[in-house]
Amino acid sequence: MKKIAVLTSGGDSPGMNACIRAVVRTALFHNIDVYGVERGYEGLINGEITRLNHRSVSDIIHKGGTFLKTSRCPEFKDLEVQKRGVYALSAYGIEGLVVIGGDGTFRGAKSLSDNFGIKVMGIPGTIDNDLAYTDYTLGFDTTVNTVLWAINNLRDTMHSHDRVSLLEVMGRHSGDIALYSGIAGGAEYILVPEVPYDLDEIASSIRKSSLRGKTSNTIVLAEGAGDREEIVQKLKEKTGINVKVTVLGYIQRGGSPNMADRVLAAKFAIKAVEMLKNGENSSAIGIKNNKIIAVDFEKAFSEKKEFDKELLESARILGL
Ligand code: F6P
Repeated sequence: MKKIAVLTSGGDSPGMNACIRAVVRTALFHNIDVYGVERGYEGLINGEITRLNHRSVSDIIHKGGTFLKTSRCPEFKDLEVQKRGVYALSAYGIEGLVVIGGDGTFRGAKSLSDNFGIKVMGIPGTIDNDLAYTDYTLGFDTTVNTVLWAINNLRDTMHSHDRVSLLEVMGRHSGDIALYSGIAGGAEYILVPEVPYDLDEIASSIRKSSLRGKTSNTIVLAEGAGDREEIVQKLKEKTGINVKVTVLGYIQRGGSPNMADRVLAAKFAIKAVEMLKNGENSSAIGIKNNKIIAVDFEKAFSEKKEFDKELLESARILGL
């Protein structure tokens, strides 16, 4: 393979820049020309493609976001639209593609591979950690640490005022950001979409703990686990307590990637480029039991993500 391209698509995640850099430098090391597609699939169908060299990716390893930019491109589901992307790639003689993104990005990648024979390697870049075939997605670790920073700050003020805090975090349909940041931040209650919860029981637990002298509580709510206003209202009715709400929002998606994500970015990128170089089948790259793996897209989609319920339950015990 002589020419490949790289793009980022869907919601950005910390480590995408480090990953693009590693794709570019690995490709150049193997004497493969490398191109950057701007704005994900949207840029691909519009032919926004430029040649990258070593210096194009200087000084980006530590930056959040993605210098190639990204977009959500629902129209890319349409085969006719995909054809425009295929045409743009062939105009540059590009034979292989590395896509960095989440589930939607991978579906586009699979279609380019199945329907047009393009070799595509998918690198899981999303803060949500919602892809079952990989233990971690790129950006998840940094995001959890950003959320943890927020919980630490909230604890200071909530503890000083004897208050109950509810922090809403992202994750779409996944509760992993809430789970890991909540456990690390000492949250007493972690509400996730994967496991039903009972507000009556939470209210009674808060009341009982206050009789035992516990005056401050932290609730971490995953955005997919319910309506924050309704939850706060119900807890107020049942406990008389005014729960203080913070929605962390996009702050948790930006920021400098940490060590774990930068190393993961490098490992994913090296694997993806080497597979393209060797002419291997289109695959989703991941990490399982600390080993870099490659599985076909079909398998990546068919696996069901296991949620760590035991860890979730431990929040109550540890927060007593
Ligand atoms: O998938 C990443 C994510 O940040 C989700 O956690 C969140 O639900 C969604 O993207 C927000 O999407 P948008 O950036 O389009 O508002």
